[in-house]
Amino acid sequence: MTQDEFLLEKGVPKIYLRARMSDAPKELDLDINQSYYFFSEGPGTGKTYLAWAILNEILITNYVNNLGGEIEFTTAGNLFLMFRETMQKSRNILFPKLNNHKGLKTEFDIIQYYSNADILALDDLGGMRPGESSSYNVSNLFEILNSRETETRQTIITSNCSLEKIANVFDDRIASRISALCKIINLTGADRRLASSKSHKNVSTNQNGISPEMPKIIYQESELSVWLDKFSKEKE
Ligand SMILES: Nc1ncnc2c1ncn2[C@@H]1O[C@H](COP(=O)(O)OP(=O)(O)OP(=O)(O)O)[C@@H](O)[C@H]1O
Ligand SMILES: [Mg+2]
Repeated sequence: MTQDEFLLEKGVPKIYLRARMSDAPKELDLDINQSYYFFSEGPGTGKTYLAWAILNEILITNYVNNLGGEIEFTTAGNLFLMFRETMQKSRNILFPKLNNHKGLKTEFDIIQYYSNADILALDDLGGMRPGESSSYNVSNLFEILNSRETETRQTIITSNCSLEKIANVFDDRIASRISALCKIINLTGADRRLASSKSHKNVSTNQNGISPEMPKIIYQESELSVWLDKFSKEKE
């Protein structure tokens, strides 16, 4: 089996198959064991790519060393949909077939599953889907993040929201757990999807289909201490 076939079998999406930690700028100094919160206001800055870069390296390392070990990737939207399904099922026995593909039947099952996964990537948190920040979702999400923090389980989150916004959209306790759990990385720069499609016709591209002439993305670690400071002042 080739490495690509192995990764595909593990559920890695085709467009992120070649994502590797070495693609990230050196100054980011990505650590394969670290939990991260990758965020940018704009789309297409490479947040999901970085999440898969780490997951792919973990999968390959575990495979090469015969360690087994599973990674879990879900979008936040899908997680919330799973929770919603369990509510609909318990309300209406006419929909016994409504079931997620993992066979998780109750809120408790879902919380346990995502709390206990060795490595979890939660993509696109705060995507502002209708009803996403309901108190029901907030309390379920809190349970997962809280238990991952308590057990220090590696967690990679991507989002278009700063933690400040997460605190406003969801709850400050969610933001607080994320800040305790993850290294916060703010990605700034142009949308790579636009950059690659605009220059598609005339410019030669590298193996990922990204134009070498595209604007450089500047990565910066956000001033977490400043944010936390501001955050605690607001609470007073
Ligand atoms: N470091 C990189 N090297 C090569 N290609 C990359 C890199 N980062 C991102 N890309 C490519 O750019 C595109 C956008 O990246 P990605 O999906 O990670 O963006 P995103 O920040 O998650 O966007 P969104 O906010 O819309 O979720 C993808 O096609 C991805 O493969
Ligand atoms: Mg993304």
